[in-house]
Parts: sequence; structure tokens; C-alpha cells
Amino acid sequence: MDREEALDSIRANVENESLIKHMLAAEAIMRALARHFGEDEAEWGLAGLLHDIDVELTDNDMSAHSILGADLARELGASEAVAHAILAHNQRHGASLESRLDKALFCTDPLTGLIVAAALVRPDKKLAGLEASSIEKRFKEKGFAAGANREQMARCIDIGLELDEFIGLGLEAMKKVAAKLGL
Ligand SMILES: [Fe+2]
Repeated sequence: MDREEALDSIRANVENESLIKHMLAAEAIMRALARHFGEDEAEWGLAGLLHDIDVELTDNDMSAHSILGADLARELGASEAVAHAILAHNQRHGASLESRLDKALFCTDPLTGLIVAAALVRPDKKLAGLEASSIEKRFKEKGFAAGANREQMARCIDIGLELDEFIGLGLEAMKKVAAKLGL
């Protein structure tokens, strides 16, 4: 499967533009992480891009979410490693975070929302002038973007990244696709 096929399938299954942008942001961060670790960028990118493809199909039912997503990814031709990362990013199904890919997707998922929220409170609402240090400050404000799970982000330590390093890498990755994210 190539990226275009994955995007076609996303467009067929997801109407919410914010959700699509979240997946594009996750893709960008996952690719950057893969580059950082010398892993397969295309494969890691697909895991990020496809990870929430079933959110609307499952009607936001977290007890179904990611089981269907992993199946859809397999049907599209994604590797078993990608399907497992998608399954395990929702920790409700008892699938453990085994590979570095699994762990990377898990901590990346909430990071996109924190970065978007930090951009949107700027006067220009853009990513370009946003600095990692201000995201680190926002990270510590529990009430800010409260839905972005801090504990989950902090698990970046499981892939060998300190939080500041992870945030910096994620921010730079999202800046590169800012236009696609409308930021
Ligand atoms: Fe997600």
C-alpha cells in the first residue's frame, strides 16, 4: 500500500477535517521519529496516518476503536507491525506496547493535540513562531488542552527520548506540514 491509497481510504471513512489533520500530524511526527531512530519512515508514517481511521466507523466507541482500525490497515496492505501499533495505541484491548513502533505511536497520539492547542492560543494561530519551550510550559498546565494525556506523552521515555527532545522533534515535524494542518 502506498500513502495515496491510505489517504483515499481515510477520505472514504473520515469526514471530520480536524481528525484528518490529527492523523496527518501524527504521520509527520512518526516519520520524524523513524528518521531519528533509523527506522522505516514510510512504515512508521503509515501507522501515524491510519491510526484513527475507524473513529467515525466505530462511532467513537472506545471499546471498538482500533480493533477495526487495525483490520482496515491490514486490508489496505499494511504490515502486521503497523496493524499491531494501531491496535495497541488504544490500550483498552489488552494489546501490549511491544515494539518501538507501538510505543512511538502511543506517545505521539496525544502530542499533536497539545501542539495544535499551543499554536491556536498564539495571536497568529500559527506553528511557525511557536517554540518548544512554550509547549513544555503548557505541558505542565494541567488545565490546558486537558484532553491531551500528559502521562501518555511522557511515555516517550520508553523509546529513549526525554520529554523536551520529544516535544522539539514533534514540533519541528508538524511545522514542516503546517500548511496541510491549516496552521
Ligand atoms: Fe489519535
